[in-house]
Amino acid sequence: MNKKLFPAIAFGLLGALLAVGAVSACSSSAAEAPDKSRYDVQVEELLAKMTLDEKIGQLNQLTGVGCAPDRLEEIRNGAVGSILNEIDPDTVNALQREAVENSRLGIPLIIARDVIHGFKTIFPIPLGQAATWNPAIVEEGARIAADEASSVGVRWTFSPMVDVSRDARWGRIAESFGEDPHLASVLGVAMVKGYQGEDLAKPNTMAACVKHFVGYGASEAGKDYNTTWIPEPHLRDVYLPPFKACADAGAATFMCSFNDINGMPTNADRHLLRDILRDEWGWDGLMCSDWSSIQQMIPQGYSPDLKHAAEAAANAGVDMDMQGFAYIAHLKELVQEGKVSEKTIDGLVRNVLRTKFRLGLFDNPYVDIPTSRRFFAPASLEAARKAAEESAVLLKNANSILPLRDNLKIAVTGPLMDAKHDQNGTWVFDLEKDSTVTVLEAMREMYGPDRIIAAPGLSFSREKNPAAVAAAVAKARQADVILFVCGEEAVLSGEAHCRTDLTLPGGQKDMLRQLRATGKPVVSVVMTGRPMEINDIVENSDAILYVFHPGTMGGPAIANLISGKVNPSGHLPVCLPRASAQQPLYYSHKNTGRPAEGITYIDDIPLEAGQTSTGCTSFYLDAGDGALYPFGFGLSYTDFSYGPVVLSADRMGADGTLTASCEIENTGKLKGATVAQLYVRDLVGTLCRPVKELKGFEKITLEPGEKRTVTFTLRASDLAYHLADNTLAVEPGDFRLWIAPDSASGDPKEFAVD
Ligand code: NOJ
Repeated sequence: MNKKLFPAIAFGLLGALLAVGAVSACSSSAAEAPDKSRYDVQVEELLAKMTLDEKIGQLNQLTGVGCAPDRLEEIRNGAVGSILNEIDPDTVNALQREAVENSRLGIPLIIARDVIHGFKTIFPIPLGQAATWNPAIVEEGARIAADEASSVGVRWTFSPMVDVSRDARWGRIAESFGEDPHLASVLGVAMVKGYQGEDLAKPNTMAACVKHFVGYGASEAGKDYNTTWIPEPHLRDVYLPPFKACADAGAATFMCSFNDINGMPTNADRHLLRDILRDEWGWDGLMCSDWSSIQQMIPQGYSPDLKHAAEAAANAGVDMDMQGFAYIAHLKELVQEGKVSEKTIDGLVRNVLRTKFRLGLFDNPYVDIPTSRRFFAPASLEAARKAAEESAVLLKNANSILPLRDNLKIAVTGPLMDAKHDQNGTWVFDLEKDSTVTVLEAMREMYGPDRIIAAPGLSFSREKNPAAVAAAVAKARQADVILFVCGEEAVLSGEAHCRTDLTLPGGQKDMLRQLRATGKPVVSVVMTGRPMEINDIVENSDAILYVFHPGTMGGPAIANLISGKVNPSGHLPVCLPRASAQQPLYYSHKNTGRPAEGITYIDDIPLEAGQTSTGCTSFYLDAGDGALYPFGFGLSYTDFSYGPVVLSADRMGADGTLTASCEIENTGKLKGATVAQLYVRDLVGTLCRPVKELKGFEKITLEPGEKRTVTFTLRASDLAYHLADNTLAVEPGDFRLWIAPDSASGDPKEFAVD
């Protein structure tokens, strides 16, 4: 059926966005949105007492300088609304005392910090947490982070980052949940719930800050802070859904992004910040700028000076200026000149005050010193280990070399084998290095020190000096098997750490070739902050465990996986490329008019071949097409068979539903987990549709021989997308549906929407 013959069924914009994230059989149910009117009376009463200076003070966020006299005076004068980066509980209490007891109105501060994947107990980087495909683990990690950080007075974290990230060059992909809007929505909501708990007013919670609003993941060429070009329907289909899901789940705060979209800095974008976020979505939380991002509209070429930047951001709806000094310097004058109305200022201040009431700060502003510094509880370390275990993705296991028997002699080598700092990944400001257990330590513990021969060969991932490699290779010759722990140091991913060459840095490729030449089996553990180009590793390893920087308990987790105490169950939240230059690479691409067919590689082209001889389809002469390992991929030590998909009906109405089921059997000899993934394809659209879109997933654990039927309920509204005029529509027509263990396998089932 050609859907163009039938009218599209349009949805209101609000209903449209509600469709997002609805299918997943294991999606966390959204936390209760905060009661919008609950604090209105208190907020209005307080606002009525405030001078313009005090109002502007609430919009000012500064970085910590301890109890410096100038800072105490600013607080006393009501010129500061929030402090970031203060983590000493006594200092927090001293600052708070100045605000609560010595300022005219006694308005408490909010203390903020980047607690991105743990405060003291470090969980895998968010990209690793995404590889678990397990929202319960993500929620638990955030809950533990909130408990630890709030114990020193941090009640606001700048997390989760839900930027859909499709470019592995971009260092910040490490902080993301990967390339897919649905996965990012489900896990973003889980993280918000973990930080905020059932009741944000409890002292062991933190306000989540969902960032970066919006489109930052599309930074051109994978270079940080770069411009983006995103048509609004695409923004609504791909980049906005995780933010909407988190807003609906009651996320207390958002952060503006650094990028511009189509030339408009997000910090000045009223359409985004007011029309969409406030009017369409009805969100009433606090929007902060990013670090100095209001000020940065000057070098961006949007604002001639700081005063203009302040005017633009305030009128657009940025409530708080993070370390930008624009509001404190210029808002009063702008109000006096009539360029920003006091009504506008009141709106911004309301959002700040409401957040402080929601956090319970007016009732309980201080840290309870006797119970402060709650770090590294045994249950927290246990949860961090489990998260690291579930985040590891088994990519290759030739001849079932893994798990390694316990009577082997194992050469543990490579620059990340004993890297207490680096295995924790990016964005760890508060690391206590000694708490981290490395792969080497854990392997010695697991197999006994006599069975482990250790030599790093290279002392860090970028090390080019091969002086110690020969000795490490010589030691490896004495072993039965080699465990090569390679990858990227923490500092090679994260903010402002972008790369164009996504292969192993330093002398690692060469070292791996030498290890391979020993003839011993090689197991590579790739510890990294991004999807890497791993052709060399695939070629020179019998088995590969791909582990995004796994955190405090990364060592024990990896030893458990290597020894088979735990069966790998991670699945990729991103595609791994065949070549670095394929970026951006993602499974949910459009088909093109000439999809790849009959790929001819560069060395196979005859001399003086004709221009059209390679077939004129969409591929690279030197890399072919598609991912080396696709989104959603992950092996196990056991095998799973996915039966045929059974649909409850082969048609549904525009407001209908159907169920899709698949029987999954553990056909191997070990207990294990697989992630059943539901994908759909809309075959014909008013706008071209992606070849596949994830609509749901469920991680299930099966005993050997056990079978289970996984069932997803799909609503027609889950198939909606935005047309060129930004309306949301389900278009009648034909669809395909898969239930599969990754984005590149499975047999499709057809159905239609009438
Ligand atoms: C800049 C980063 O973009 C943002 O993610 C972070 O939260 C702030 N700095 C605060 O450190």
